[in-house]
Amino acid sequence: MLNNLWYAVEFSTAITAQPQQITLMEHHVVLYRDDQGKVIALNDRCAHRGASLALGWTEENCLRCPYHGWKYDANGRCVEIPANQLEMAIPKRAQVTAYPVEERHGFVWLWWGEQAANRALIPDLPQFAAPNHRCQDEFRWNAHYTRVIENNVDVSHPPFLHRRMGQRQDHNAEIEQLIVEPMGEWGASVTLNAKMKKLKGIWQPLVAQQGEMGSTRRHAFYLPNFTTLELNFGRFQLAF
Ligand code: FES
Repeated sequence: MLNNLWYAVEFSTAITAQPQQITLMEHHVVLYRDDQGKVIALNDRCAHRGASLALGWTEENCLRCPYHGWKYDANGRCVEIPANQLEMAIPKRAQVTAYPVEERHGFVWLWWGEQAANRALIPDLPQFAAPNHRCQDEFRWNAHYTRVIENNVDVSHPPFLHRRMGQRQDHNAEIEQLIVEPMGEWGASVTLNAKMKKLKGIWQPLVAQQGEMGSTRRHAFYLPNFTTLELNFGRFQLAF
């Protein structure tokens, strides 16, 4: 894992009081939402015998391990060991790592690293700001994540590959001009003209309404794991 960066790890709407596990490069993290609606992220391995806390439950804004019932607060400190007598102190090492999290643009962002979380490093994504203009879907790519990122910023494959999405196979799909720009601290984008007059299928009505006016697409990548694709049809903009 690359350190000291924000990872987009889940849709905000997917997180409830019911703990759930996410996996980042074989690291297991448990996410849940407390009574105030705040998202909490802890290492999903109980400090006692290593049980998954995601199989436990929330109690008074804490997370209860399902195995022997150790209870962890939002900072990952164990605050109760049911088998201990009341006067017994809780050992300092009865602790799991708590990760800084932030909800923005409809996603949960998790800070991974030893430095203090710098919220200014979360990408600025105004195209995802309006929740009533958003729909949401989820699917799994059976590939290494770097391959997925590479595909999402690959500007030359759509005319060949995406016939089912409305683009005819085009063996003369020259890329005329590329504009490469930095996007905040850890991102970059490439913008190019898209040959929308060749579109068919679900895209055709958009083009039909606008004739053959110029359209652009912009592919962006933000370290460590976030890519966007923006299609600009003039009057219509789509962002993925
Ligand atoms: S493994 Fe979690 S309380 Fe024992």
